Amino acid sequence: MRDLTAEELAAVLDLALAIKAGGYRGRPLQDRHVAMLFQRPSHRTRVSFEVGIGRLGGRWTTLSEQDVQLGVRESVADAARVLDRYVDLIVGRLKSQAALDELAGAADVPVVNALTEESHPCQILADLLTLREIKGRLDGVRLAYVGDGNNISNSLAEAAQLTGLDLVVIGPPGYHPARIPNGVEVTDDLARVQGADAVYTDVWASMGHEEERSARLEAFRGYQVNAELMAGAPQAVFLHCLPAHRGEEVTDEVIDGPASRVFQQAENRLYAQMALMAALMGAGSSA
Ligand code: CP
Ligand code: NVA
Repeated sequence: MRDLTAEELAAVLDLALAIKAGGYRGRPLQDRHVAMLFQRPSHRTRVSFEVGIGRLGGRWTTLSEQDVQLGVRESVADAARVLDRYVDLIVGRLKSQAALDELAGAADVPVVNALTEESHPCQILADLLTLREIKGRLDGVRLAYVGDGNNISNSLAEAAQLTGLDLVVIGPPGYHPARIPNGVEVTDDLARVQGADAVYTDVWASMGHEEERSARLEAFRGYQVNAELMAGAPQAVFLHCLPAHRGEEVTDEVIDGPASRVFQQAENRLYAQMALMAALMGAGSSA
């Protein structure tokens, strides 16, 4: 997210909307190959990238943790210098942001962040697209993120700076985001959901934090997005990046209820990432 200008981000979202509307016939990945590296499990990210690459005319190779063994079987930089001789684009879901940055620094082809412990920009592209569809704009749209200060809230905060999204991050003390950009409010006060256009939550223990699960269940008790919390923001839609831990951060009643837009978000991963890949291949608005 921090590598995009506000204009580039807006252009990616415009293109994503055009692709979703069926008005884009470009095949910018024709005769091109994408490598996808996954050090962590994935459903949405893997499938939406693979489908999107195919629709853009490309091919892909998906590699698991056991295959390349980044930083174990060979250095991250050596792996990058080999991969970029085979492929035109690398998509990486890595355990560490530092490793992803190293990969991007060493590779001569674009590297897309498909989630690290610090950030999840592709998810947030889809979320911005969803909010654009719902509200028709992003500037001034009030988003209340309730829960862990994690990769999702970090990338939302970066997106808020680029789009004018009015973001409040609400969570228990000790679990607030590590870095808080200017203009983003951070609080433990659940009453701040009031006036929200959207309420967003995510799991309380992200991948890599599984061993902290019981302490986190305790700490986040009271921050569940349930009907009572949603009643504080009666106009708000409900967002979640998925996978959800139903009965923990969100109740069935909310995620299956009329305000929920979670499957629209999941669907939009496809269009947002197709637009991003088209832009990275230099095939921006049409073709
Ligand atoms: N939201 C998301 O990134 O889902 P996956 O972990 O299943 O890819
Ligand atoms: N915060 C979650 C997001 C999963 C898509 C995690 O990192 O596990």
